[in-house]
Amino acid sequence: MLSRRHLLTGATLLAASAAIPRAWAQGAPGPFKLDPLPYAPSKNEPHIDTQTMELHHGKHHAAYVNNLNAALSQNGELARMPLHEMLGRIGDLPESARSAIRNNGGGHANHTMFWQVMGGAGGEPSGELKSAIDRDLGGFQKFQTDFNTAGEKQFGSGWVFVTVNRDGKLALVAKPNQDTPLMDGQRVLMGNDVWEHAYYLKYQNRRPEYLKAWWNVLDWNKIGERYAAAKAGTLTI
Ligand SMILES: [Fe+2]
Repeated sequence: MLSRRHLLTGATLLAASAAIPRAWAQGAPGPFKLDPLPYAPSKNEPHIDTQTMELHHGKHHAAYVNNLNAALSQNGELARMPLHEMLGRIGDLPESARSAIRNNGGGHANHTMFWQVMGGAGGEPSGELKSAIDRDLGGFQKFQTDFNTAGEKQFGSGWVFVTVNRDGKLALVAKPNQDTPLMDGQRVLMGNDVWEHAYYLKYQNRRPEYLKAWWNVLDWNKIGERYAAAKAGTLTI
């Protein structure tokens, strides 16, 4: 039986090599890039202030991308893997690059998801996603309460996520630092960043207030699209 390591260095890498970005293949700084915010940085005002959005995206997220590319520059073969696969095999990666990829690859994936699910007007989910929340998370009110409690209890830096499987089943999970359920082979429907850099300018030490306000900027259409993609097997990060 082939070991996971064997698979990683064999067929999987060959399959992934077809997707090498042209810039990386030509020796550019790295395969990953920081996409622009999908809306103006003021879009989440007044709940999340413009300056926080600008620094969070333009400095913090940018640093994760740059540091991920730097780690991959010493491990060219890994750079050919899609990010969700790289994170899903984090335990198989070379030890020399594992921590850097865990922190910065996790940071890139988490923040890419984070910008997507915000920029909306809050409210409540509908349709299939609403039904799944009722079924798996005890209804929208309980879901919000449990999610916020998990965010308050997360010691130090980390994230609270909702995971989703191919059957559309949802679950709540908190992770430290830039860890992500992708590292457990799962998919992320949505998540909130409880690092101080996400809220300190406006809320200082009042993390519970930030957690409560965050629901006002969610884009439930976008989250519904992610839900449908998860069920179709096309959701990556
Ligand atoms: Fe962050």
